[in-house]
Amino acid sequence: MMEIVLYPDPRLRAKNAPITSFDDELKQLARGMLDLMYETKGVGLAAPQVGVNRRMMVFNAEGDPEKPEFETILCNPRVVRKAKSKVSAEEGCLSFPGIYAQVERPEDIVILAQDVNGEEFELALDDWSARVFQHEFDHLEGVLFIDRFSPSDKMRLKPVLRGLEFDYKEKIAGS
Ligand code: CO
Repeated sequence: MMEIVLYPDPRLRAKNAPITSFDDELKQLARGMLDLMYETKGVGLAAPQVGVNRRMMVFNAEGDPEKPEFETILCNPRVVRKAKSKVSAEEGCLSFPGIYAQVERPEDIVILAQDVNGEEFELALDDWSARVFQHEFDHLEGVLFIDRFSPSDKMRLKPVLRGLEFDYKEKIAGS
């Protein structure tokens, strides 16, 4: 059973290996991640967030299972170009329940990635979808959105993070 890995699980900071076999297992992983993302009301999910330290992510910027045409599965994504202009917006993360804060990111981005069959393609993203991609891409780099919070948000959210750290220790102790 696939589960969302919560902060501060070390798998969120581990190195993620490239996808090398584009097999049925990979397709099942992608489908399972999309389903779990919809169930948990997310708009994106990276493989390390389900405990798989591989360079794969899924997203649907609409967050709507009735709109599968917006489903995107990216294997081994690379950033080709990004806008110099940055925009700020509120983000959440399925690995950080209860935490929301402003994050500044480039407004537009062009990426190269492989699909679930290993076919390479280029994708230009802007606005919200560019933001969702960059958040998930950070996960593949072991970077978490809390790393990008302003000093005042870091201060404000410290007690909530401490709470997550406490819950994690309890869970480990109980398992
Ligand atoms: Co996240």
